Order: sequence, then structure tokens, then C-alpha cells
Amino acid sequence: MKKILVTGGCGYIGSHTLLDLIDNGYEVISVDNNSRSSTRLLEGVEKITGKKIKNYKVDLCDFDDTHAIFAENDDIAGIIHFAAYKAVGESVEKPLLYYHNNLISLINLLKCVDEYQIPYFVFSSSCTVYGSPANIPVTEETPKQPAESPYGYTKQVGEDMITEFAKTSKTQFVLLRYFNPAGAHPSGLLGEYPFDRPQNLTPVITQTAIGKIPQLTVFGSDYNTRDGSCLRDFVHVCDLAHAHTLALNQLVAKKNKTNVEVFNLGTGEGITVLEAIKAFERVAGVSLNYTIGPRRPGDIMAIYANNDKAIRELDWKPRYSLDDIMATAWQWEQNLYSDEKMFSSGNFKLN
Ligand code: UD1
Repeated sequence: MKKILVTGGCGYIGSHTLLDLIDNGYEVISVDNNSRSSTRLLEGVEKITGKKIKNYKVDLCDFDDTHAIFAENDDIAGIIHFAAYKAVGESVEKPLLYYHNNLISLINLLKCVDEYQIPYFVFSSSCTVYGSPANIPVTEETPKQPAESPYGYTKQVGEDMITEFAKTSKTQFVLLRYFNPAGAHPSGLLGEYPFDRPQNLTPVITQTAIGKIPQLTVFGSDYNTRDGSCLRDFVHVCDLAHAHTLALNQLVAKKNKTNVEVFNLGTGEGITVLEAIKAFERVAGVSLNYTIGPRRPGDIMAIYANNDKAIRELDWKPRYSLDDIMATAWQWEQNLYSDEKMFSSGNFKLN
């Protein structure tokens, strides 16, 4: 069994990926300082798999603490690096926080990759590296435009640092460019657990439906799209998670063509914000309280993926539809709500 270190294992995509890796015969350890997560999702993975997962509560910006994980685990075969800040708006307000956190952590990890000669490294990148693309759908060859936010810039720089480092390294790298991750695990035990007021569309939809957020604002209705709202490519988090396993499998089987492979991970279908809202209303049977507001600074009009390469070379097939995304996200939100009600009513008993 190959041991994989998952950074950000307590986070949204990280936890779903831990589960998928375990289901596919990998041994996993996690590192997460829980600065923007709790152990709840890790516990969900443990419940589903019946396996205990070791999490190192370490800040990857601390080199010594990071190094100690590698010293203790000299059999790490691969790393999947999720741990990063991801709030676009916050990154505009606090660029240095994002440059520091997202880039120092990556540098520290790459130093350990170098010292310990780690064979495989998968990097969480984003469609944000394309900036505002001239043509859609985007392929992996679509030229990158200037980043729209400091967050996006950290992903561009991260990709560049890896590509440069790979020139003199024996490690095999994969850069996975996610489009809009959404939805939750069908068990209802894992999902997005925003540490603060959510900014992403799907948790805003479900939190509005459950009453945590009074009203959803659609940011802009005057874009040049079929209904005037922005267009995105919503990909189910379980499909995304499985792509990480497939990427590792490809490296292990030595089927990668270059030592820095790049894949778009989206469904290949563009959905507008208003269409996503309508899908939710239909699936959940709930009428959403929303209003149309002004454009959000930093938003691009439209982006969706050409995912041919991932389908062809990783044998990846997104299995979940937009309706599945909304149904699982809604189930997760309702489960969170009943847990919170139990706590506040005093009926919750630890066993
Ligand atoms: C952004 C990043 C993406 C990153 C993700 C992580 C860009 C281009 N994309 O995605 O790379 O992985 O954040 O956080 O930087 N919307 C509303 N009302 C809301 C919330 C969202 O109308 O209350 C709209 C937005 O205007 C946007 C769409 O929904 O058009 C999706 O927004 P969001 O979920 O925040 O993701 P992106 O901004 O697309």
C-alpha cells in the first residue's frame, strides 16, 4: 500500500479525496492546522471507512514542523497538496496573507520533496489560472491571462514554481485545475463546512434555503450570457476527488507523458448562476429567496472546461449531474442543521 500525505485533509476537497484514496487501496495521512477547518470532516471519513486517520496539526508555513512529518514518515510515496486559503474576496483585501500562506507552504513542501525524494506530487490548482479567457471552453493549452485576484496569482505562481523545480527534480508532478467544486458525499457525512460566512455559490444557496442567510444576491444580470448571469462549470466534489486517485494511479503506472502533467477538471458544461438556482429549487422543492444585485468585483463573465484530456488520459468520467450536486449539497446542509439544533436544544449526548 502506498502512503499518501494529503495536506488540507480536514478541508472540503481534501476530506473527500482521503475517502476516495482509501477506497482505492491507498494508505493516507493528513496534515491540517485546522485554521480554517475542524476535524469534523476527518471524523466523517473515519465513520464511512471504519479507519482511523492520522492528522498532523501542523502549519506548513513552519518548515521545522513540516520537515518533522517527513522525518517521521520516511515511506511517503506521494503528496496531494490542497492546503491553501481560497477566498477570492479576502485575497483582494489581504494579498500578503495569501502570498505568505499559499506560497511559503508550497516552498516548504517542495524542499521536503527534494530532500526526501518523494516520487509523486499532485497540486490543487484552479481554473482561475486562465484569468479571463479569450475563448471558452478552455483547454490546458489556453494561454493564461493575468490573474483576477491575489488568490488566483498564488495558483499561477504555484504552478510556475513547480514547473521550474521539476526541471531538476526526479519527482513526477500533476497540476489539477478545478473548475467550480460543489455538492457533497451521498452519505450525508461529508460536505462543505465553511468556517465563516460562505462566499461560494452552492453553500450560499443551501444556507439561504435553510434560513442561515436571509437572502441570496445574484451578482450581476447584465453579462453577455444566455440569461445575463455568470456562467460556470460546477463539478461534483466526489468526481473531483476521484480524479486525484486517477492522477496518482497514472503516475504509479508510469503512464504520464511528461513530468508535469496538467488536467482541467470540469464537467465540460457551462451553467449559469440562475440555472444553478433553478436546479436547486427543483431538486430541493424549495423556493429560494434571491434578488439580483450588482456585479461582484473580480468575477469573470464565463468559463467552462474542455475536459477531453482528463477523460482520455486519466480515464476520468464525471458521474454526478447538476441535480446530484444540488441534492447532495442540500442533504448535507440539512444534516448540519439538525446537528446544530441538537446541540442548541441540549438533546445531543456524546457517547
Ligand atoms: C472562484 C475562483 C475559483 C476558486 C473558487 C474558490 C475565479 C475566477 N474563480 O470561483 O478558481 O476555486 O473561487 O473559492 O477566481 N455568486 C452569486 N452570489 C453569491 C455567490 C456567488 O451570484 O452569493 C456567483 C458569482 O458571481 C459567480 C458564481 O456565482 O458568478 C460562482 O461563484 P463562486 O462560487 O464564488 O466561485 P467562482 O468565483 O467562480
